[in-house]
Amino acid sequence: MLLFREKVPADWLPKILANLPAVLVDHAHLERKAATTALNLEKYRDLYPRVEELNAIAIEELQHFQLVLDLLKRRGIPFGQPHPSLWISGLMKSVRNGQRHQVIDHLICCSLIEGRSCEKFQILVRELKSIDAELAKFYASLVESEGNHYANYILMARAIDDAETDRRLDFFLDLDAELIREPNPLPMLH
Ligand SMILES: [Fe+2]
Ligand SMILES: [Fe+2]
Repeated sequence: MLLFREKVPADWLPKILANLPAVLVDHAHLERKAATTALNLEKYRDLYPRVEELNAIAIEELQHFQLVLDLLKRRGIPFGQPHPSLWISGLMKSVRNGQRHQVIDHLICCSLIEGRSCEKFQILVRELKSIDAELAKFYASLVESEGNHYANYILMARAIDDAETDRRLDFFLDLDAELIREPNPLPMLH
């Protein structure tokens, strides 16, 4: 299902495993932003018929946000400041203006973010099993939902314009492959 052209860099996992409390704070913000993003997509005319589906995604992301906050509380990790993701802002910078162009690009970016989350959560499930079973179970519980969001957003773009979605997906997959190779010293999911 996931069609990425570049693997997650080898230095990502050790950096994550060595900084799990900071990663969980970053993850909390990621879910918060995913909820607001689903709501922001409702501004596009082409997505008015999808408003209830988008609300459902926003509610699910807000529930994920709350689950991460609960985890932070249980572990005595204070909720803190978010770090901007250069990978996400790099993708979003290429969203074109113009109603139809913008909605398709925006949906593709959201889809790739959800897809990369799904992929990275799967890596964490595998790697955390022997280190932190509770966290491994938690990430396993999110994989299906983020995978569905990845598919939902791509299908929404395809329903607006299938050929244009293919064309722009090609562009954004190349951009993702380029951006994911950029070094990021911070312990962030993206
Ligand atoms: Fe989520
Ligand atoms: Fe999601």
